[in-house]
Amino acid sequence: MTGSLLITRIGELVTNSPADASESAGPGDFALISDAALVIEDEKVAWAGPSARAPAADGVVDAAGRAVLPGFVDSHAHLVFAGDRGAEFAARMAGDAYAAGGIRSTVTATRAATDAELRAGLRRLVTEMLRQGTTTFECKSGYGLTVPDEARSVALAAEVTSEVTYLGAHVVPPEWDGDPGGYVDLVRGPMLEACAPYSRWVDVFCERGAFGADEARAVLAAGKACGLLPRVHANQLGLGPGIAVAVEAGAASADHCTFLSDADVAALAASGTVATLLPGAEFGTRQPYPDARRLLDAGVVVALATDCNPGSSYTSSMPFCVALAVRDMRMTTAEAVWAATAGGARALRRTDVGYLAPGARADLIMLDAPSHAHLAYRPGVPLVRAVWRSGRRSDLGLNRVQIAAYE
Ligand code: NIG
Ligand code: FE
Repeated sequence: MTGSLLITRIGELVTNSPADASESAGPGDFALISDAALVIEDEKVAWAGPSARAPAADGVVDAAGRAVLPGFVDSHAHLVFAGDRGAEFAARMAGDAYAAGGIRSTVTATRAATDAELRAGLRRLVTEMLRQGTTTFECKSGYGLTVPDEARSVALAAEVTSEVTYLGAHVVPPEWDGDPGGYVDLVRGPMLEACAPYSRWVDVFCERGAFGADEARAVLAAGKACGLLPRVHANQLGLGPGIAVAVEAGAASADHCTFLSDADVAALAASGTVATLLPGAEFGTRQPYPDARRLLDAGVVVALATDCNPGSSYTSSMPFCVALAVRDMRMTTAEAVWAATAGGARALRRTDVGYLAPGARADLIMLDAPSHAHLAYRPGVPLVRAVWRSGRRSDLGLNRVQIAAYE
């Protein structure tokens, strides 16, 4: 963009503005301005306030009463994979249970894929996300599970996002069946060494059928020693030690949180660890949804993310997750939109996104709707009309792949 841009006549501007906008402490609580305007300059928000007081700018976009929100921050996604598990989904809908072991079929397909095939699949999903209003996303490895296959997964992820997560500890691959300890040593040794240069985060699937508490602790500690920040897949399939491990490691986020004891909720509330809820996974596995209300009432910071992956949650849609959270997880529309924007930023420890106030990155979406509530009120409807990333308007044309501006 050259020069400044004024977006005016915004029916409802969700700002999540921090109390003191002069500090770059990141998003504040849910907040909105009716009949608002916003100015973008030099890739950032320069001004936000009532339309009547809007300053002049070089260019003008008339929102004609539509809602404008911060771009979604999808803090949990598995986008580097090959293969299809539609038949597994169909069998689940016919009564089969979900098990962590299904991951292995994607591992087989991913290992067999060329770099070009993996890159094409990744870019297709990134494009889907952009069209649905996601302007920042995290991307995990975890379907390679050999040193070269994990290394290429994080390298490919690093082409499209700076929020890359090393998830060598997703499941124990079949060739290590008799020696899970040996696999953990590989994950925290040579595999970590190969993946750390491309990664910001280290993650572990701490669950029955995946990795236990001590294994998870060992992987997180090794990752931290290499400069990676911890996050944990915890308590997706049942009660277990995942939350305690996450809190003890100072993880930015404990993800899933579907089955929680009172002690887990208290531990999260007393910690700096965000509870990232992934309702697409409960939808795709026919599990009970996590109880967001219980977490919010206890004072836990809640984020919403897609968990986009070919097994448990093959959706790239943050609006779909917002709708599920409002309908089935006892979140208000404001809480769900906050969790999908500012909450995701908190889960990624980002202070530049998830809100719209002077100094924030100009990542914003315009809805074909007058308020944020329509994201849940009109489920499944493609409401995202326009997307700006770092102040640049994205072409949402159906036959264009655009990922270059993601950072
Ligand atoms: O987050 N929980 C572990 N990993 C994914 C599932 C991946 C798969 O089934 O392929 C998840 O749900
Ligand atoms: Fe996941």
